[in-house]
Amino acid sequence: MGRDVAIVGVGISRYGLRSDVNIGELAWESIKMALDDAGLDQGDIDYYVFSSVGGWSSEYLPAIVVGEYSGLSSKGTSRVEAACASGSAAIKLAYDMVSSGSADIAMAIGLEKMNESPTPIVVEFIGRAGNYFWEFHNFGLTFPGYYALYATAYMDKYGATEEDLCRVAVKNHFYGARNPKAHFQKEVTIEKCMSSRYVAWPLKLYDCSPITDGSAAVILASEDIAKKLTDTPIWIESIGYASDTANLSKRDDFLSLRAARIAADMAYKKAGLSDGYEMYKYFDVAEVHDCFTIAEVLAYEDLRFAKPGEGIKLIRDDETYIGGKIPVNLSGGLKAKGHPIGATGVGMAVELANQLLQRVERDRQAPIKVGRAIAHNVGGTGHYAYVSIYSLSKPRR
Ligand code: COA
Repeated sequence: MGRDVAIVGVGISRYGLRSDVNIGELAWESIKMALDDAGLDQGDIDYYVFSSVGGWSSEYLPAIVVGEYSGLSSKGTSRVEAACASGSAAIKLAYDMVSSGSADIAMAIGLEKMNESPTPIVVEFIGRAGNYFWEFHNFGLTFPGYYALYATAYMDKYGATEEDLCRVAVKNHFYGARNPKAHFQKEVTIEKCMSSRYVAWPLKLYDCSPITDGSAAVILASEDIAKKLTDTPIWIESIGYASDTANLSKRDDFLSLRAARIAADMAYKKAGLSDGYEMYKYFDVAEVHDCFTIAEVLAYEDLRFAKPGEGIKLIRDDETYIGGKIPVNLSGGLKAKGHPIGATGVGMAVELANQLLQRVERDRQAPIKVGRAIAHNVGGTGHYAYVSIYSLSKPRR
């Protein structure tokens, strides 16, 4: 058993179309905020992990470019990739370094500047995230197309409708409108979502997360250091992880993301949380991977907030708004806060730390009673999955 690890500082940039900054400047927005939050400077960081999928931006070695701009040169670093779960993979590596004693203070920095390429190129890059030859090259499956397979299977088996899916978009835009860092800060109605253009039937424009630029950073420290730096460390109680086949044709069904289910079970087991379909009781708030609206519904079920086929009821009954069983994606989620791929998992940790510390905008602050939050971050179409549990209390061992 390694050392306990806590988040001691967090930072996040404004998400959106960020043609006003280069990648160094974009990263520095969140790095500076995290350093200030922790009361540290660059010299205190032993190692930084950089998460970015890249390709759309001209920099081939972004970790180094960001390190130079941010005054982190000379520190050890590496870039990690786990598709849209890269940010959580970066936190896992930083966690392992601190837990194992290889570092006392490590930083995870996530960044993506997707708008440096035009939409068709971005859609192609993301469409290759699976098995390039069999699914993209031969069948032309794009990412919205992949998730449309899950949406149609779920609708067919459980009777969910396009309108049900739009409810996820309405909720996440509602909270995005209250988050000054979000890509989209406008509420939308069911009618607006329903009348938006199809991207890959049954998914419409408002069922999709956007193409976003943004960065996020978290600083992790060992128990001794965390206690010196802050009275309110955010403990990493557990991290679960799993992967799945590259080809979707090798999946048993399109009703659940197996990797997310395995990752959730692992995270729950490590945290000593028991079985059942009411796991939401252990948490005040969740950030889940709603890259497409159907993905949020699958997340409810893969996290066992609801039985298979019953996740859709949570959104129909407004149970994932503040005041419901479990508030989900109060940041606006990927749908409205935005999805700068490599930054997303780190951004989830930033949001949940701020939620637990009760320092987000009042109209999107979850009531904090249990003192625990959960992040569900999926890479690809369930190709990678990470589920992380954050807590105000030191983990029980
Ligand atoms: N949700 C809501 N509005 C969106 C949007 C989205 N996802 N994407 C773009 N818009 C808005 C823009 O703000 C713009 O509004 P405006 O006309 O008022 O300025 C308008 O729609 C057109 O934007 P544009 O950038 O031309 O859209 P696009 O056609 O280039 O891109 C998608 C739309 C859906 C193709 C693109 O957002 C996409 O590919 N999303 C999925 C990204 C993805 O797969 N991520 C990985 C998931 S794991």
